[in-house]
Amino acid sequence: MSVGEYKPGLEGVPATRSNISYVDGQVGLLEYRGMQIEDLAQQSSFLETAYLLIFGRLPPAGELKDFEQKIQIHRRLKYRIRDMIKCFPESGHPMDALQACVAALGLFYPLNSNLQDPEYIWGAAVRLLAKVPTMVAAFQLMRQGNDPVQPRDDLGYSANFLYMLNEREPDPLAAHVFDVCLILHAEHTVNASTFSALVTASTLTDPYTVIASAIGTLGGPLHGGANERVMQMLAEIGSVENVRPWLDRQLERKGRIMGFGHRVYKVKDPRATILQGLAEQLFERFGHNQAYDIALALEQAVEERLSEKGIYPNVDFYSGLVYDKLGIPTDLFTPIFAIARVAGWLAHWREQLSDNRLFRPTQVYTGEHKIPYVPIEARS
Ligand code: ACO
Repeated sequence: MSVGEYKPGLEGVPATRSNISYVDGQVGLLEYRGMQIEDLAQQSSFLETAYLLIFGRLPPAGELKDFEQKIQIHRRLKYRIRDMIKCFPESGHPMDALQACVAALGLFYPLNSNLQDPEYIWGAAVRLLAKVPTMVAAFQLMRQGNDPVQPRDDLGYSANFLYMLNEREPDPLAAHVFDVCLILHAEHTVNASTFSALVTASTLTDPYTVIASAIGTLGGPLHGGANERVMQMLAEIGSVENVRPWLDRQLERKGRIMGFGHRVYKVKDPRATILQGLAEQLFERFGHNQAYDIALALEQAVEERLSEKGIYPNVDFYSGLVYDKLGIPTDLFTPIFAIARVAGWLAHWREQLSDNRLFRPTQVYTGEHKIPYVPIEARS
């Protein structure tokens, strides 16, 4: 391979064939299994969307009910997982806690020699979708020195998560908004974390390791970790008046504006538009946030300065404002992203296994050759 063919970050290099989702970054189109994200956000539920992604079609009513019931049954954590969480340092990042918990699931549910077995796939999908939210909520309570709250069978997926997190039943609007957030974050073609899932899946390891690997990749600030930093950035800006001076300083020192820019979207991310609408619904119902005024002013100022580079708000820009209004601590934003993305990662796991080839890229070697070994006493 010649050096000319090397693409840093594999930009524009197809890593797989997939019919799970589609993005047209020039016009701001996102589809899951051919269905537009706006329609799913308006009409579907997260678990139905997860089913669509993983199994390739919208489930008939009976199948959806069965899927939801199975997930409800598997929400609880084994006490050994809870004990493990107790030992985690409370100052540790929840993404690290989540990655460790998901990896530990593999200890309880060993690898099936037939990874194509529909029952094994179903069991892994149900368990991961069911237990990941409980793990996030359990870590949040236990790092404060409290016992985790048991899931409630009479609550839906999103309402139950907010209940486990806040120890009180959520307002129906809050539960609905949260569910839509999960739909929006469920899948997004071959991004860094999904690529990581594909590479891990291609070794034919178990699905818990696949998802743990993807969680590790999602946490970085250039990927899912950006949503956390958006709130820190808005707090640092502090006022609408300070938006433009802050932006000037940031751009002068070549700093990144968190929640803006995307490798694929060169227009406003359609998920950001939907999230902005959700944020407005929450503000109308539960009171306004000054951070939203700062965000609006920042969006306008960034558009004036950076739109010629195709830099617009991405999914992380408004999601933080929504989660913040739902009373969710900032460092749980990325774990919540992971709760949703489990659906997409599982879909890609299945697709990879249906036509597997071990990932083994090549490299452009830039080192030297035939360097003589120098004994330690002769080194300067
Ligand atoms: N703020 C300021 N400038 C930016 C930003 C930004 N957020 N994003 C890109 N640019 C500029 C770069 O400085 C560069 O300018 P130059 O050509 O004058 O040097 C140009 O745009 C291209 O930048 P790249 O880094 O090559 O673009 P890339 O496609 O790699 O960027 C990325 C994608 C990493 C997401 C980037 O936009 C970024 O760092 N954004 C901030 C972090 C963020 O919000 N991440 C979440 C992404 S969505 C997700 O993962 C769920």
